[in-house]
Amino acid sequence: MEILSIINLKGGVAKTISSINIAHILATEHNKKVLIIDNDKQGNTSKILNRYKSNSRGTNEILTISYTQENILELIQNTDYENLDIITANMSLLNANLQTILDQTRPQHTRFKKALELIESKKEYDYCIIDNAPDINISTINALACSTIILIPVMIDDFALDGLKELEEQIETTKKELNEKIKYTGVFITNYDRRNEADIQGALFLENLNYNLFNTKIRHTLKMKASTFERKAILDYSNRCSASKDYKELVKEILNIQ
Ligand SMILES: Nc1ncnc2c1ncn2[C@@H]1O[C@H](COP(=O)(O)OP(=O)(O)OP(=O)(O)O)[C@@H](O)[C@H]1O
Ligand SMILES: [Mg+2]
Repeated sequence: MEILSIINLKGGVAKTISSINIAHILATEHNKKVLIIDNDKQGNTSKILNRYKSNSRGTNEILTISYTQENILELIQNTDYENLDIITANMSLLNANLQTILDQTRPQHTRFKKALELIESKKEYDYCIIDNAPDINISTINALACSTIILIPVMIDDFALDGLKELEEQIETTKKELNEKIKYTGVFITNYDRRNEADIQGALFLENLNYNLFNTKIRHTLKMKASTFERKAILDYSNRCSASKDYKELVKEILNIQ
């Protein structure tokens, strides 16, 4: 199973939109079995996929409860999309983070890894996509510590590069100390307006930095916000809009990562 973490310390750069749409395209266009993990107490992925409940069990319990092979699948729900399952999040993830820091009876940084190993032994998934909060905390470190691929969405603005250096350092440390299986870290541009000179110049600037930049840029479309109000993946809302085409191209690039 490939485990993809979608992460950026900056908020509002399309981590959630990208997680949902990459997961949805892998599941529906490429017939992959996909598990999406909502790793953000805001629960936006759970909300858009219509599975949010303020009191439901989910990602918080991956951190706080020691599951066994027998009961680990209780945390997984199906979604309205074929081949796409979810582990949801809500505000209880905040407490779960605090509880994990205080609980030294079990390793703190490898609880996602352990849970995913148990899940893998019971159910076959090709991909697990983890939508992360704009933060480095125990649950995001857990995500990095089990991932094989790390994807960093970047939205071009004055502050686009804020936090990238710190995130890179965290990924490097995680790779060294916790997870030698990270094989690829790549950056992709989201919400891109190719008629806007600032976006064009920003993209050129990024291309000249030392990042693995995906060729595909996800274009801005007014349909994106509407798709979230309708609680739909973008392909389901508007199959032919620019962002649908771009996410399909991005997924092809992701499938090519060796
Ligand atoms: N391609 C796009 N075109 C237009 N709007 C977009 C596009 N991608 C994302 N957005 C909008 O940008 C906003 C932020 O997206 P999203 O919630 O995915 O960001 P995030 O990084 O997950 O935020 P947070 O840090 O709060 O978790 C949303 O309103 C979304 O509709
Ligand atoms: Mg989000």
